[in-house]
Amino acid sequence: MNKLMLAACLLAIATQGFAASTSEQTCRACHTMDTKLVGPPFKEIAAAYKNDSDAITHLKKSMLEGSSGKWGSVPMPANAGLSAAEAEQFSHWIMSLNNASPAAGKEATKEGKR
Ligand code: HEC
Repeated sequence: MNKLMLAACLLAIATQGFAASTSEQTCRACHTMDTKLVGPPFKEIAAAYKNDSDAITHLKKSMLEGSSGKWGSVPMPANAGLSAAEAEQFSHWIMSLNNASPAAGKEATKEGKR
């Protein structure tokens, strides 16, 4: 089971390349923009925390410490290789999806700030 997961992650990394950052590719083994994979799609996460003023702090914590029970029965393990600064950048990026037009997905990944 774990070996299978690892193989899936490596395959995802290998096929998608290292375009943005290695950490982002790690996330994409379990998350996509708008389809549920192992974890919820980034756009759905953005929408779910749209009106939460603590969203950045909360998402950052989930990425660094892991998360369970919020989206289903599968937990997200703590992302050990992720720095606090990267987690903050990803949080801003995810929340920025609420403002992005449907075609602007690629552009939005370039800038972590709102
Ligand atoms: C092994 C698969 C896996 C990896 C790798 C992974 N996630 Fe997740 N992620 C999940 C699952 C499963 C959930 C749902 C957890 C839950 O129900 O609380 C989740 C939930 C989340 C949430 C929502 C947390 C919340 O509090 O609602 C965010 C944000 C997130 N992931 C971001 C990331 C980022 C950024 C990365 C890369 C650094 C990443 N994830 C890597 C599986 C993964």
